[in-house]
Amino acid sequence: MTNDSEKTGTATLGTGGPVVGVQGLGCMGMSEFYGATDEAAARETLETALDLGVTLFDTANAYGMGANEEFLSPFVKAHRDEITLATKYGIVRRADDPAYRGVSNDPAYIRECVEGSLTRLGIDVIDLYYMHRRDPAVPLAESIGAMAELVTEGKVRHLGLSEVTGAEIREAHAVHPIAAVQSEWSLFSRDVEISAVAAAAELGIALVPYSPLGRGFLTGAFADATNLGAGDFRHTQPRFTGDNAKRNAALLEPLRAAATAHDATPGQIALAWVQQQAQVHGLSVIPIPGTRKASRVRENAGATRITLSEAELASLDAIAAQVAGDRYPDMSSTALSRE
Ligand SMILES: NC(=O)c1ccc[n+]([C@@H]2O[C@H](COP(=O)([O-])OP(=O)(O)OC[C@H]3O[C@@H](n4cnc5c(N)ncnc54)[C@H](OP(=O)(O)O)[C@@H]3O)[C@@H](O)[C@H]2O)c1
Repeated sequence: MTNDSEKTGTATLGTGGPVVGVQGLGCMGMSEFYGATDEAAARETLETALDLGVTLFDTANAYGMGANEEFLSPFVKAHRDEITLATKYGIVRRADDPAYRGVSNDPAYIRECVEGSLTRLGIDVIDLYYMHRRDPAVPLAESIGAMAELVTEGKVRHLGLSEVTGAEIREAHAVHPIAAVQSEWSLFSRDVEISAVAAAAELGIALVPYSPLGRGFLTGAFADATNLGAGDFRHTQPRFTGDNAKRNAALLEPLRAAATAHDATPGQIALAWVQQQAQVHGLSVIPIPGTRKASRVRENAGATRITLSEAELASLDAIAAQVAGDRYPDMSSTALSRE
């Protein structure tokens, strides 16, 4: 059971948007990317998160090629009015080639995707629907127009974008209000600060940092992807293998020092840093750390009670510029490629 003192605070998901727990839960790893999952433990994680005040649950049609939405369905239906369910379209997968990644923002494809997600989730409206990746082949206004029609039809409540530039945020928001922008944001990944954060702050849009624990690297749980199971996605990420991993592991010292000072874990310090960017940049920040373990969701939620000093923030701020290696093997569909 959760004491009241353990509960997280709340934040608004964009101007006029729903109030959600200030920390959300990333559900992707429950179905794919980070090795085998114990289903019972993952279900306990969902319930524990909700008990702690976590109400924003994040998935996508791409995760497990629909399996993650199907996995979440019983939980979502059991707690329909207590949670904010976010899913996404835009990354095209192929059953016959699991490594294949395409991108589509075509209006007909968007419509096909929303119907698929609603069916797999077993609900009649998606609370927050994100464009997962930008497809430069389709004018942005056309895709946002198609997403806005879904709002008018009652299939979707709020719109979001992922991995977009500040200019793209402004262009989309002029077509239909955007509630949230989801991008990688952590002590290791700060591309989002180039232009997206300022645009979101100016327009009253919430920022939802994904991979806020640097895919687990910032917790110290692994120091090199070579030690992870075969098929783990992190083997493909340049920053987690070989000399890059060695160099990057050495950057974690300020994290450990702050953890000792706060009687906290390095992962909690990483989450507190990203959470505190809300004050630094003047916008709602709702990180969505991913875990499949109830003990870790409790630990992660505990980060919402940590306040880092200016000196600690400064020592942590210096890390990102020193990180060796990209965050994806192919950066061509990230916002950075269009900045
Ligand atoms: N929009 C996008 O393009 C995009 C891309 C990637 C992810 N996402 C979303 O963002 C969510 C979070 O990102 P992420 O899962 O990639 O990365 P993350 O939250 O930075 O890290 C997740 C990893 O850290 C481990 N972990 C979590 N809490 C821990 C703790 N307290 N101590 C030690 N290890 C811990 C997890 O393992 P266990 O599960 O074993 O605990 C998992 O391997 C995803 O679930 C997904 O919903 C979105």
